[in-house]
Order: sequence, then C-alpha cells, then structure tokens
Amino acid sequence: MSVRVRAPGKVNLSLAVGRRQPDGYHPLATVFQAVSLVEEVVATPAERVTVSVTGPQAHLVPTDATNLAARAARLLAEVAGVDDGVHLTIHKDVPVAGGMAGGSADAAAALVACDALWGTGLPREELARLAGELGSDVPFALHGQTAVGRGRGHLLSPVLSRGEYHWAVGLRATGLATPAVYAAFDEVVGGVAPEEPEVDEALLRALLAGDAAAVGAALSNDLQHAALELAPELAETLAVAEDAGALGVVVSGSGPTVVALARDAAHAGAIGRAWTAAHVVDGVRHAVGPVPGARVLGAQAGAGRR
Ligand code: C5P
Repeated sequence: MSVRVRAPGKVNLSLAVGRRQPDGYHPLATVFQAVSLVEEVVATPAERVTVSVTGPQAHLVPTDATNLAARAARLLAEVAGVDDGVHLTIHKDVPVAGGMAGGSADAAAALVACDALWGTGLPREELARLAGELGSDVPFALHGQTAVGRGRGHLLSPVLSRGEYHWAVGLRATGLATPAVYAAFDEVVGGVAPEEPEVDEALLRALLAGDAAAVGAALSNDLQHAALELAPELAETLAVAEDAGALGVVVSGSGPTVVALARDAAHAGAIGRAWTAAHVVDGVRHAVGPVPGARVLGAQAGAGRR
C-alpha cells in the first residue's frame, strides 16, 4: 500500500509585515494564492521515518531528520500514537529556498499522506494545527486556493477569488534564507513597521471581481526591499517584466523568485522569454492559480511507483 499526495507552492499576492515580536516572529497580513508548481509525496510503509528526494534541485534538500516532511511524519505519529514508520519519496517541482513554500508543501503533503497510510483519521482542523507547529506556511499548503493569512501567516481565512491567474515565474539558482531576509527587514524598516499589519482591501475587491489588471496593480510585498538588499540583481528582473507589459510584478515571499502576473498563458510565455533574453533569471516557469491544497491523488498496493 502506498499513498500519493500533491501539495502546491504559493505566491503572496500581498505581504504586509509588522514589527518583530519577542518570539522572533513577525505579525503578518498576507493574501496567499496556491499555484500550479506542486510537490508530490509518496508515502510507503517502512520501519522508521526516512526520506528520499527527486527532481533537478534534489541535491539542495536535506534527507536527514531535519527534513520538514520527515518532521511532519514524526509529529503526526507522536500525536496519533502510531508506532509505524514511513518512507517518503518527495518529488520537488517548487523552487528550493525560493520564497514559494516548497518545503512547507512537502510537510503538508506528508501530513495528508501519513494520515491516509496510517488511517489516523484526524479531523482536518487537527491536521491544520499540526501544520502550524511545523512552519508558518504549512497550514496554507494544506488549505490551498486563496486565503488571508494572519498571525505568523498560519491563521487562515478563505478569500473569494474569481478567474484564473497566469504567472511567469523567474527562478534564481541561489536561494535566499527566510530568516536572513527578515533580519534585513528588521534593519531597514524594523522600527517603523506597524504593530498590526493590515490586509489590502483593494486586492480583495480585485480578486472578488476577477479583475486581473487590478490584482496586478495591487501586488505588494513588504519583504521586497530586504530581498533586494540581499540580491540587488532582482531589481532588473522586476524591470524587465514591467517592460514586457506584466500586469504586476513582485518578489515572491522572502524571494528570490520573482512572479509576474500576465494577461494569459501566451503573455506569461512572452515575459519568460524577455527574462531569458535579458539574462536576468536562471530559469523560467509558467504557473496558474489558484489551485487546491494538499490532497490524495491515489492509493495503490505495491511499491508506489508511477
Ligand atoms: O515558521 P517558519 O519556520 O517557516 O519560519 C522560518 C523563519 O522565518 C523564522 O525562523 C523567522 O525568522 C521568519 N519568520 C518571521 N515571521 C513570520 C514567519 C517567519 O520572522 N511570520
């Protein structure tokens, strides 16, 4: 018996960041959209909890006990009183250390896969609580679609969103560490950041109306300045997308991935080609959102191969 689960990466359509709290975290008011760059996790019975990773960036991901999917499996086993182990095969499609929550998607997928494999039958709210313990972005990878995130980003409320959004996704070979970007944020704007950041109402109205141009105009990211301090070359990536007629362009989360909102799939392709021609990215993807959160694709007897 093996269980295959898919979980999405995300873009932050808006990311308002407040002042650093005593626990080191920053209060957020963000609008997440789940996109079609997805992680797949196959869970197979095993003696212990082990992990292997496939995909072009697999060598960048730890396969020891620190792997977030392995931590998710161990946490679920502990809470549900399960003695079994599991082998998790992670196929990575979301850029590693890119600001699109690929590791969080692995953790969400591992929770759902192990829950099904072990038949723990935990309610979805309990899985969401465990997800929040594992990382700030893990609950959204479970939730998917479009949602407002408050607190550390883990307190979610769904957002009504019409239409389909096409993104050109500009990849960088060298990732940015999220804590380093938040530290740069503290240095640059820390003292004047608000206690309680607010969600952009214009963005929510644009999503409700399905008005892509208005969504593009409302894209925002309070971490962008900090990401640009650490990776100044991203300024050019933003500029090239603007010149290519992007409806809006923004650094995704803590970066360094840049996402440009396009009119349609063909326009997303054109923005990607403009980036490639200008040599301002190391790779280009096309993504569509919103898409569902972590869900079982299938369970099958045997070794769990495709
Ligand atoms: O929650 P997670 O482990 O994904 O967060 C990684 C790091 O990002 C934290 O250690 C912290 O430095 C930073 N962070 C933050 N405020 C948040 C979310 C993350 O400062 N709301």
